[in-house]
Amino acid sequence: MILGFESSCDETGVAIVRCVPTGVPVLLGQALYSQIRMHQAYGGVVPELASRDHVRRAIPLAREALQAAGLTLQDIDAVAYTQGPGLAGALLVGAGVATALAAALNKPTLAVHHLEGHLLSPFLSADPPAFPFVALLVSGGHTQLMRVDGVGHYTLLGETIDDAAGEAFDKSAKLLGLGYPGGPALSRLAETGRADAYELPRPLLHQPNLDFSFAGLKTAVMTTLRKLGPAPTEVQRADVAASAQAAIVDVLAQKSIKAMKATGLKRLVVAGGVSANRALRAALDDAAAKRHWRVHYPELSLCTDNGAMIALAAAMRWQAGLAQPATRYSFEVRPRWDLMAA
Ligand code: KG4
Ligand code: ZN
Repeated sequence: MILGFESSCDETGVAIVRCVPTGVPVLLGQALYSQIRMHQAYGGVVPELASRDHVRRAIPLAREALQAAGLTLQDIDAVAYTQGPGLAGALLVGAGVATALAAALNKPTLAVHHLEGHLLSPFLSADPPAFPFVALLVSGGHTQLMRVDGVGHYTLLGETIDDAAGEAFDKSAKLLGLGYPGGPALSRLAETGRADAYELPRPLLHQPNLDFSFAGLKTAVMTTLRKLGPAPTEVQRADVAASAQAAIVDVLAQKSIKAMKATGLKRLVVAGGVSANRALRAALDDAAAKRHWRVHYPELSLCTDNGAMIALAAAMRWQAGLAQPATRYSFEVRPRWDLMAA
């Protein structure tokens, strides 16, 4: 029974999963608190405020998660936490709370890579994937395509050379005067817009490699808005939003198709905050239907950061014999940490 803490950015998440020797671990209970409203006043995440809020939330959320699972601390066999990547101070809170709790219970700690949590999160969905598969990892800080042959067996196929897909959503949203986080707000505005209203760049689309580049999109959105003058109409704003979303989705979908072709695999897994995006899901579902492959997503509630994916990743590593349980009760965090080195 693994209790897991997520605190790498602006969500505090706690969850309990039960290991299942020959199957997918089972989520027994979870609790989540999003700091979005607190950071909204500043237009983005304020790291110091994030850390302080994790301090306030971690223990009450752990109680809530245990209660939801119908368990007590005595039932817990190991305590997992996000070791990185993420905000240093925010990570330290989760790591500190998890380590103190484990020491008090005389149980081991398990350090988890945040992106491995995202990557494995579709295993908690009603339609879990099977290995091997291609993974498209699209979050606020990362955009990667990889080949996944099993837990801990990851081969990088391509990644962004500048901004992440989530960042492209967030920056375009900011230019449109939408609040933080920009992804959901931009996609809502895009619903009434025309995706072909403005021609925005799709960098590296026709390059043979599987890398991405999104920094140019922000500039193009800025230029487009400037041409519309100081007071664009609601219709124009929706058209810009829809065109920006289409550019991001187009590149993500085309590169995913390329990765499927290059590997010859028939399963695609999409994870990370941007995997909640409806236009992206529609484009990938369409591509999969045409080419006879399957696409797997996390449940909508598990696309953005949460504790369940951290407890799950710890459990799956444990079951695969890859976990390195620690009982020295010292800890370090890794604000920058490459998944391929985990
Ligand atoms: O995975 P996540 O919660 O945090 C990181 O690990 O970065 O991803 C957050 C990112 C943000 O950039 C947010 O704008 C984006 O995911 N996002 C979306 C949607 N929901 C969240 N982007 C597009 N459409 C959405 N529906
Ligand atoms: Zn994340």
